[in-house]
Amino acid sequence: MALKDSISKSEAAQYDEQCRQMEWHGHEALFGMMFEYISPGQAILDIGIGTGLMAALFHKAGLEVRGIDASEAMLEICARKGVARELVVRDVSESGWPYRDESFSHLVSCGLFHFLNARNLDVVFGEAHRILKPGGTFGFTAKGIIGGRTEYIDRESGIRIFCMSEAAVEALTTRYRFRVLKKMPYWTFNDAGRTEPAVFYLYVVKKRG
Ligand SMILES: C[S@@+](CC[C@H](N)C(=O)[O-])C[C@H]1O[C@@H](n2cnc3c(N)ncnc32)[C@H](O)[C@@H]1O
Repeated sequence: MALKDSISKSEAAQYDEQCRQMEWHGHEALFGMMFEYISPGQAILDIGIGTGLMAALFHKAGLEVRGIDASEAMLEICARKGVARELVVRDVSESGWPYRDESFSHLVSCGLFHFLNARNLDVVFGEAHRILKPGGTFGFTAKGIIGGRTEYIDRESGIRIFCMSEAAVEALTTRYRFRVLKKMPYWTFNDAGRTEPAVFYLYVVKKRG
C-alpha cells in the first residue's frame, strides 16, 4: 500500500495532534537548520507538505511557500491554515513537476523520503536540482537504519518504509550535484506508545552550479 492513497479525511484531521502527542519536532529542527540561509520574500517549495506543519514556520518567517502532496485530505487541512500561496496534488515520484527551472531559492521535505524507493528518490533529486536556483538549499529528512533493517512494512499502517544509511544519502546528493552543509541525527519513536526507537537524519544540502 502506498501512503499517497491511504490518508483519510479523519486521519488528516488528527495528524497535527498526533505529532504533538508523539513529541515530533523534526520540522522545527529542520527549520532551525535552514534558518541561516533563508530571507523574507524568497520562494520555497515544500514537497510532501502535508498539513503544513513545517510550511507554517517558513511562512511565518516571510517566505513565499508553495507545496506538493499526493494526499488531497492533507492538503485540505494545509489550505485552511493559509500558509501556502499554491498547493498542488501530485505524486513527487513522477518527473515533470509544474515549476520553471531555477525558480526556487529553497526546497524542503520533512517526513517524506522514507515513503520513497531509490528510483523515486532519483526523480526527486533530479527535479530538485532543476527547480532550485544555483546555490539554493534543500533541507530534508531521511530515516536511518536500525538493526540492519533497510526496508520494512509498518505494523500500524501497512505501508512500506525505506531506511537509508548516511553513505547512501550522501552518494545520492553527490550524484545530483549537491554539497552537504549540515546533518544531524534526530532520535524519536516509530509508535505512539514510544516503545520502538527510530532515527531520522536531518540534512541541509546546497546545489552546486
Ligand atoms: C509524514 S507526512 C509529513 C508532512 C509534513 N511534511 C510535515 O512535516 O508535517 C508525509 C506526507 O508525504 C506525503 N506523501 C507521501 N508519499 C508521497 C508522494 N509519493 N508524493 C507526494 N506526497 C507524498 C503524504 O501524503 C503526507 O502528507
